[in-house]
Amino acid sequence: MNKGRIAVFLSGRGSNFTAIARASRNPDANFSVRLVICDRQDAPGLKKAANFGIPAYHINPRQFPDKTAYEAEICAYLQRENIELICLAGYMRLLGPVLLDKYPGRIMNIHPALLPSFPGLDAQEQALRYGVKISGCTVHFVDAGIDSGPVIAQKAVAVRAGDTQETLSRRILRQEHRLYPWAVRQFFAGRLQIQGRTVIIK
Ligand code: GAR
Repeated sequence: MNKGRIAVFLSGRGSNFTAIARASRNPDANFSVRLVICDRQDAPGLKKAANFGIPAYHINPRQFPDKTAYEAEICAYLQRENIELICLAGYMRLLGPVLLDKYPGRIMNIHPALLPSFPGLDAQEQALRYGVKISGCTVHFVDAGIDSGPVIAQKAVAVRAGDTQETLSRRILRQEHRLYPWAVRQFFAGRLQIQGRTVIIK
């Protein structure tokens, strides 16, 4: 089977990367992680990639005059590996037109809240502060906004009395690790069709 070729972008811990990389090792997986791009030299996710034997590159945005030049450099890496899908996994940077135009409908992100509620940073803390009873996670296609592209899939997680940011984040993360590889599988099975804001799952 010809496996779908993924690049994972991360900035930190890399647990969603690990979930995707693990799922790709499944014998009947329809995708394979070809490379990791990281904007932070100290990101623990870089080591995790090395443990999987997956090439990982720290590309420092500060070494480029602007986002256009930075993303052009990233594109060179992606093109060398014929990447078909980019998975943002805790990549804490807004994408610019260079990447968005080169990979239309081919960039996904995971967010630890039920979008459109609580986009941006510290989503779990935002949810707790608001006092919602149900939060969760969302996998969505990426557009130029903050966590704003068409939703692919969501999983609800109940907020419990006494939850802290840590306990809620942990339970949401467990669901993230299931939902993201599932969404990637659907993508490469050709089941995801974007119609305006709606993603139809065939
Ligand atoms: C995850 O909880 C992910 O949903 C979140 O960052 C964390 C990264 O963890 N992403 C966002 O908040 C995007 N707006 P990880 O590095 O262990 O995968």
